Amino acid sequence: MQTPRTKISALLAAPEPMGDVRAKGWARTVRDSKKVLFIELNDGSSFGGLQVVVPAELEGFDELRKLTTGSAVEVVGDLVESPAKGQRFELSAKSVQVIGRADDSYPLQKKRHGFDFLRSIAHLRVRTNTFGAVFRIRSRLAQAVHEFFRERGFFYVHTPIITASDCEGAGEMFGVTTLDLANVPRTDAGAPRYDEDFFGQNTFLTVSGQLNAEAFAMGLSDVYTFGPTFRAENSNTSRHASEFWMIEPEMAWADLDDDADLAEAFVKYCLKAVLDDCAEDLAFFNQRIDKGLTQRLEGVVGAEFARVTYAEAVKLLEDSGQSFEYPVHFGANLQAEHERYLTEELLKKPTFVFDYPKEIKAFYMRRNDDGRTVAAMDLLVPKIGELIGGSQREERLDVLTQAIIELGQPMEHYEWYLDTRRFGTAPHAGFGLGFERLVMYATGMENIRDVIPFPRTPRNCRF
Ligand code: 4AD
Ligand code: MG
Repeated sequence: MQTPRTKISALLAAPEPMGDVRAKGWARTVRDSKKVLFIELNDGSSFGGLQVVVPAELEGFDELRKLTTGSAVEVVGDLVESPAKGQRFELSAKSVQVIGRADDSYPLQKKRHGFDFLRSIAHLRVRTNTFGAVFRIRSRLAQAVHEFFRERGFFYVHTPIITASDCEGAGEMFGVTTLDLANVPRTDAGAPRYDEDFFGQNTFLTVSGQLNAEAFAMGLSDVYTFGPTFRAENSNTSRHASEFWMIEPEMAWADLDDDADLAEAFVKYCLKAVLDDCAEDLAFFNQRIDKGLTQRLEGVVGAEFARVTYAEAVKLLEDSGQSFEYPVHFGANLQAEHERYLTEELLKKPTFVFDYPKEIKAFYMRRNDDGRTVAAMDLLVPKIGELIGGSQREERLDVLTQAIIELGQPMEHYEWYLDTRRFGTAPHAGFGLGFERLVMYATGMENIRDVIPFPRTPRNCRF
């Protein structure tokens, strides 16, 4: 019987040397010292690769000396103690088979490549140290999301991707249609005939699963959705993507404080999972990408977040004497520069900002008794800015109806949503966390395009 393949992570963690093991992976580097050939083999299972030592006596040695970086290779050999520094074991090869040769034009060579260049080969960059580490951590975070909610008795809801309602009311939706764009059927007034479209109405990619999650919270109490969301906002920043993943819990019988408590526990839980389980990848980011990362994450997990009202935040910013590109005053949207100054310079930790003016927040947020603010909360964190946006929801039918009228959107799109307030409405609250921003926070990576496998941003959808 053939020896089964062992993952490189398991080989590197072996308790003792082992005879006859089989490893499969891609050659990260090939070094020829005439007498032996060193192949650094990586299969993605761990940051570190396995050093394969091929002796000159091995059959086909001369052919193997032509091995190219990036080739897929299968090696059988003995796992032995390594005389080299920095590694416990190496693989002394007894047979090496090239499964898939990488052409000489393979673009990833040993030198360090810039992130801009690597974005232009997004289909290959997962084979680099940095991106292997990013996507292992991303995966661990995604699993932590489900673990967290499962432990707390939340149910996972798959909310739809195609929708007719604009959850945020911000008009940033991508249209979904099968109409022939070169020959759109039109009404006498010239408007597109969406009644002839696939769904018989105008439809879009969702910007948020919240409205559907709310409906489910009115039956299952505690739910969350975790899926892709889409925003056609033409902002080319390091923190915005046109397609990104969002985690949205929704809790019945909860108010804004419960919501913030959940958000704080959630962020800490996810970061702790990375600290506990991704030590090797994290050490790399701490050393090469963002010195002080590990310490910062430990600090976040161990300390209480700050909590201020919007009015207090504005006052803090006004009193700081700092001059901003966008002036700050009550009623103004907090810009990234304000958010970062507040968390990085003034409060120096993750900060919840509560009770924003109603004019700058979404229609579904619960109106506060002061008549001018809503029960909203944003979680702002150093280096990123807004990580979470959430609120207590407006559960009163009359107030919510009025808010939709003020929004100026067709009421019929929201009729089903209003039903949740007609039939057994209950107080509830929830939030949305931008998953890519969490990955950025956990790794110190500075561009959202580098923490999502194949980024979609304005004028960029190649892979
Ligand atoms: O603040 P937002 O727009 O809130 C909502 O969508 C609510 N429906 C959430 C809820 O209460 N269930 O978005 C939530 C989070 C932001 O805080 C940010 O982290 C992220 O989603 N986000 C983006 N991430 C990447 N690219 C974009 N274009 C983003 N827009 C929002
Ligand atoms: Mg927001």
